[in-house]
Amino acid sequence: MENVRDIGSSPYSAAPRGDSLRKLRNAEQSDQSKTIANLKFFLSAVIDILTFLVLLLPILAKYVIGIFVSPKKKSITGQLALVTGGANGLGREICLLLAQKGCHVAIADLDMTNGEKTAEDLRQLGVKAKCFKADISSFDSVLGLKKEVESSLGHVDILVNNAGVLPLMSVREGTPEDVKKVLEINLLAHFWTVRAFVDGMIARRRGHIVAVASAAAFLPIGRVCAYIASKYGVRGMMASFHEELFFEGLHNEVFTTTVYPYFMNTRQDLISTLDKIKVLSRVPIFSPKKIARATVNGMLRNQQHVHIPRFMAPMLVQYENIPCEIRRLATRILLRTDLPKLMN
Ligand SMILES: NC(=O)c1ccc[n+]([C@@H]2O[C@H](COP(=O)([O-])OP(=O)(O)OC[C@H]3O[C@@H](n4cnc5c(N)ncnc54)[C@H](O)[C@@H]3O)[C@@H](O)[C@H]2O)c1
Repeated sequence: MENVRDIGSSPYSAAPRGDSLRKLRNAEQSDQSKTIANLKFFLSAVIDILTFLVLLLPILAKYVIGIFVSPKKKSITGQLALVTGGANGLGREICLLLAQKGCHVAIADLDMTNGEKTAEDLRQLGVKAKCFKADISSFDSVLGLKKEVESSLGHVDILVNNAGVLPLMSVREGTPEDVKKVLEINLLAHFWTVRAFVDGMIARRRGHIVAVASAAAFLPIGRVCAYIASKYGVRGMMASFHEELFFEGLHNEVFTTTVYPYFMNTRQDLISTLDKIKVLSRVPIFSPKKIARATVNGMLRNQQHVHIPRFMAPMLVQYENIPCEIRRLATRILLRTDLPKLMN
């Protein structure tokens, strides 16, 4: 790994340019060997394309079958889930659903009043549950949380990175500390918790990491730059980590699920702001219960991505490829909102 802290301590050394490398290689070859090399290259490319097409068939068949038959849900009875931000909103609903499946729950939150209440509701469902006060934006706090959870409830099998904040803040608003805080809670906390818990999952050959991103991970809405950047970041981090687990042969032991919800009626002040700036007239708003159900079901089916609503997924992933003017027109006319303008 490149030592990032050493960058700039010695002069930059540039790699040879592509052109000069190619000229060097060509100069060493006679005309005849160049033709043979080109032919070999062409043949190997044809063989590779044919191999790809043959191996593609069973993968396509699996996807087609998947459209009609949902994969079986796994059992999580007796496992332990850690839910960040589980005291309120979506996190609380996820905790309740996990407990209904017989899963023990550790809540990590700053709000101990509601956290204790949620834990009590979970215990009523017959599982072990406890709320731990932890600021997940701090790596030290996450390490302390790991120690406490393990000594009182055991090893974490399911990590649900749900806690997040949604300040309506542009690049030019808030102090540098405010911007850092949003990125620390919404993005860096995912690094800290995964770092703290995934090694145990790998050692025990059982684990699942769930990240609550947002539809905003695909929608560059103006005036919420820090939030959008954090959610794009979570999407990228989770996709990259999913690949890493695959290449290390761990993908059938440690699973990842990333969730992309639209607006939910959770925090009162957020909903009042959205209402004030007329976002809610045509934009759908979901109950956290519905989003929690889709999240937990997606996790139980080991789905990598959960889009709510599901039918929006193809549009959402293509959103950035639609020309800007068409996107803005659609938002103004179809959704009757001009978010950045209204927020001024
Ligand atoms: N509400 C929406 O419309 C919406 C839409 C899409 C995605 N999301 C995402 O869903 C997730 C849950 O959102 P919500 O609406 O339920 O939020 P919420 O504000 O209702 O609840 C968030 C919880 O996280 C806790 N929390 C915040 N910072 C913390 C920290 N540093 N350490 C520990 N706990 C902390 C809070 O105390 C709270 O209990 C977030 O990641 C959010 O970005 C929300």
